[in-house]
Amino acid sequence: MDILIRKNYEEMSKCTAEIIANFISSKPNCVLGLATGSTPIGTYKELVRMHKEEDLDFSQVVTFNLDEYLGVGIDLNKPYNLDQSYARFMYEELFKHVNIKKENIHIPNGKTKDPHKVCQWYEDAIKEAGGIDLQLLGLGMDGHWGFNEPGSSLRSRTRVVALTKQTLDDNYEAFYKKANIAREEMPHFAITMGVGTILDARNIMMIVSGSKKAEVVAKCLEGPVTSQITSSAIQLHSGGITVVLDEDAASKLDNIEHYRHVEKLKIEYGL
Ligand code: GLP
Repeated sequence: MDILIRKNYEEMSKCTAEIIANFISSKPNCVLGLATGSTPIGTYKELVRMHKEEDLDFSQVVTFNLDEYLGVGIDLNKPYNLDQSYARFMYEELFKHVNIKKENIHIPNGKTKDPHKVCQWYEDAIKEAGGIDLQLLGLGMDGHWGFNEPGSSLRSRTRVVALTKQTLDDNYEAFYKKANIAREEMPHFAITMGVGTILDARNIMMIVSGSKKAEVVAKCLEGPVTSQITSSAIQLHSGGITVVLDEDAASKLDNIEHYRHVEKLKIEYGL
């Protein structure tokens, strides 16, 4: 596991975008797993800049988003009709600014009448695409990935889940309130890739910023593996793992000096 600690949010975002851009350059038709939330916004901005100024090419890239609220919509042909869906978020923050093909974008359809069918379709579509090469992940305040709330099986697959009060509160503050949507109108259910689905990705990259997540970062990376902190499953992943933190998010890690040392050594030895 590579744990990279950067000075602040901007540096964390730049570092993350650089890793993703290098990945795309080395495999132009790669399958990326993408995340939402406020944390990846800086990363997406930087990727957009790289597309515009450095010709970073998304034309063959295939994407699968982690999750979507149930009851909110996806119609990438009419993005401005969408509410606070993750489809709209992705369109606004990344997709509309780069040369990705619409048919290569996958986000669970939150407006479906048959969510369980969508979940199965999603799992099949990921398989058909050859699996996810690199999955980007944020971290919820309760330690979740996607919407895998505490108690989710660490082998879970894409499915319908109910959101905890904490997640609803956090996401209300970050998105719904700003859009003048009442708290009661917020969806209480979502479709999310499971922890097992995420662990199947060949490489995973988790990004976290800010002191309010320092404690949960320490639990996730240095605590026991537990379904109460679903992201602690990162310790079970068998492929490439990169964690990019800012100083604040890393501040409660016991082994912080070791992680810094390892990064320096790897640079020195070109590993
Ligand atoms: C939501 C998303 C997660 C994300 C989390 C953290 O719950 N489903 O994928 O990691 O929010 O969001 P933020 O980055 O805004 O703290």
